[in-house]
Amino acid sequence: MIDHPVKYHLEKKEKHTGARLGKIETPHGTFETPMFMPVGTLASVKTMAPEELEEMGAGIILSNTYHLWLRPGEDIVDEAGGLHEFMNWDRGILTDSGGFQVFSLSDMRDIKEEGVHFRSHLDGSKLFLSPEKAIQIQNKLGSDIMMSFDECPPFDESYDYVKKSVERTSRWAERGLNAHEKLNKQGLFGIVQGAGFEDLRKQSAKDLVSMDFSGYSIGGLSVGEPKKEMYRVLDFTTPLLPENKPRYLMGVGTPDALIEGVIRGVDMFDCVLPTRIARNGTTMTSKGRVVIKNAEYARDYRPLDEKCNCYTCRNYSRAYIRHLIKSDETFGLRLTSYHNLFFLLDLMKKVRQAIREDNLLEFKESFFEEYGYNKP
Ligand code: GUN
Ligand code: ZN
Repeated sequence: MIDHPVKYHLEKKEKHTGARLGKIETPHGTFETPMFMPVGTLASVKTMAPEELEEMGAGIILSNTYHLWLRPGEDIVDEAGGLHEFMNWDRGILTDSGGFQVFSLSDMRDIKEEGVHFRSHLDGSKLFLSPEKAIQIQNKLGSDIMMSFDECPPFDESYDYVKKSVERTSRWAERGLNAHEKLNKQGLFGIVQGAGFEDLRKQSAKDLVSMDFSGYSIGGLSVGEPKKEMYRVLDFTTPLLPENKPRYLMGVGTPDALIEGVIRGVDMFDCVLPTRIARNGTTMTSKGRVVIKNAEYARDYRPLDEKCNCYTCRNYSRAYIRHLIKSDETFGLRLTSYHNLFFLLDLMKKVRQAIREDNLLEFKESFFEEYGYNKP
């Protein structure tokens, strides 16, 4: 058994759902769960300074092996003293393994037992990523939580293909664990795959749980399948995971899916959604999405969200933010990014409070009602 550098502390289970309130301890501090992790793919949460992320309550951010491997290269990060030093962020960092990015960004990939041959999305050069290489890169990046190299097949892939893929992902997970040289410094998570097939998810979870990872991710979801399908898979997948380890649902960040994930026992989430939509002027508010470029906001001097207490909402109006974004002023993107991240971090804070008070289902009902999810 490994003395894991990343530890989950369960504080309370909600009475009426599978939700869990807890804390995750990392080499760079402890954060409360359930938690949303802002995405900083290239060692920067786009437009946000680390001080701002800290101020809005982010305890951990996500970055990417694939992107940092291509640019600037893991050696440059290593020589800087690791990712935390390099980007001036001293709280938690989780890195994705590159598996998913290889599948989503590059064409002409060739999946073999030893790893994946593919072409760079930047210059078309030939590259090869393996379970061992993905771990070596993450060891150099020095993230607190690393991901195993996995294959994320399309949700509608055939049973036979997904079965072979799940078996290979298990072998890759074991190879990655064996290649991990900093077992006491960096946590490593296994990633459960299996698309929509219950027995394959079971097999995947069983294989990975037998390997004693620091935590478990649920992959292969939020890849275009209906939400109903994602919830169905979560219903039978989270119960397969150990109670004493963190559970991370990869790539999920819409308010409804965050709450539904928490109800099914998920502790961690990440998504580019809040920052990506912010940069084209879309914001999430307690009353649903506000597309700030719309003409209706030209003379709207109210804050983005009257219930929000973030820096943006305390100081700036919809009319001003609309003007900045219409004029391509970078500051506008910073203001919408700040608000959207704050909104999701604040939503998770309210969710944690609801777990404490055993009223998560009531919270969900009133949140959905106000956000507009219940409209036909
Ligand atoms: N991000 C979103 N989904 C996935 C997945 O299935 N695997 C990995 N590695 N990253 C993801
Ligand atoms: Zn706000």
